[in-house]
Amino acid sequence: MSAAELLAGKRTCICVGAGGVGKTTTAAAIALGMAAQGQKVAVVTIDPARRLANALGLEQLENDPRLVSPDRLPGVELRGELWAMMLDPKRTFDELIERLAPSPERAEEIKRNRVYRELSSAVSGSQEFTAIEKLYELAEADFDLLVLDTPPAHSAAEFLNAPGRLTAFLGGGALQALLRPTGVGMRLLGLGAGPVLAALKLVTGVDLVSDVTTFFTLLGGMTEQFNARAARVEQLLHAPETAFVLVTSAQDRPVEEAVWFRESLRRDRMPFSGAIVNRVNPPVSLGEVPLDLPKDLRARLAECTSDHAVLAERDAANIRRLQSAFLDEPILQVPDLPDDIHDIAGLLAIYRVLFDE
Ligand SMILES: Nc1ncnc2c1ncn2[C@@H]1O[C@H](COP(=O)(O)OP(=O)(O)OP(=O)(O)O)[C@@H](O)[C@H]1O
Ligand SMILES: [Mg+2]
Repeated sequence: MSAAELLAGKRTCICVGAGGVGKTTTAAAIALGMAAQGQKVAVVTIDPARRLANALGLEQLENDPRLVSPDRLPGVELRGELWAMMLDPKRTFDELIERLAPSPERAEEIKRNRVYRELSSAVSGSQEFTAIEKLYELAEADFDLLVLDTPPAHSAAEFLNAPGRLTAFLGGGALQALLRPTGVGMRLLGLGAGPVLAALKLVTGVDLVSDVTTFFTLLGGMTEQFNARAARVEQLLHAPETAFVLVTSAQDRPVEEAVWFRESLRRDRMPFSGAIVNRVNPPVSLGEVPLDLPKDLRARLAECTSDHAVLAERDAANIRRLQSAFLDEPILQVPDLPDDIHDIAGLLAIYRVLFDE
């Protein structure tokens, strides 16, 4: 099966998986392939390798997709359009606040707040939150397909719950009630955490009580918007036009994680389309070695071939294991290429495998 069949009828493709398995590379290759097929595609990448970004003409963090010039993609007949961007979590967060705040002044105040600054620039959580936020924003633009790269996660839950946790934090009433200056919570806080925070202020000069209180006071009134948005994002993620594509390598541990990942997607009733097993060692046979080699070279080659055969057999066994954990969802394979994928030639090689070109 080719990636084109895997994504037939889909409007959103979310590439998920553990760290370093090839999510960013795969997302870019899928987007390229679907653009070659004639679609107008946008790919949102997260922390792409610098050279890959340069190859696509992404010189800096851009917070909106840029059209990748077909000149950069020699050898591909691009019938559609490829748009690409590198996610800027901080800016995406800021823009969300600007959009939802009741006035530009309020937005500025929120952005100056220390709690907001910490929250929006924290790596953990804010990448997941803003990636989904970006997806939601772009879903309203006129792309045929959005391909979303994601930060590394060990389970689907880790990726999927992060935005919810943050939204619950931003939109949830509990903390706000607790911190309302006149509320019971504040009195409780005054009795409990108060002295600690007051001591902290004395030592560090950081007035957390007032920063946190100000933060939630500023956000007051935006609660409903956060929650309504979160509900629509949930809808988008569960839509039948959405495809979760699991990317993994063929090694023992990542395959084990992939099985768990698939389980947690199933539990969350996410539209799961299949897996891409990347960097597979394909089987080789000595039959391919020319017979007229000198004897010692031939012996060394035989040694290499048998080493490789061990890896290839391990990969094949792991792929069978993955297959047995799946229902009937397809598993596509991409070979381990001799070099890192840091240029268009590498990307094209992956695209050709995925799309049977
Ligand atoms: N099929 C392949 N053959 C050879 N090298 C590959 C292949 N796929 C990916 N790579 C290389 O593996 C490295 C990791 O790939 P990539 O950045 O796409 O992974 P990732 O899952 O996005 O990582 P992270 O979780 O850190 O974001 C890169 O250096 C890339 O060039
Ligand atoms: Mg990546």
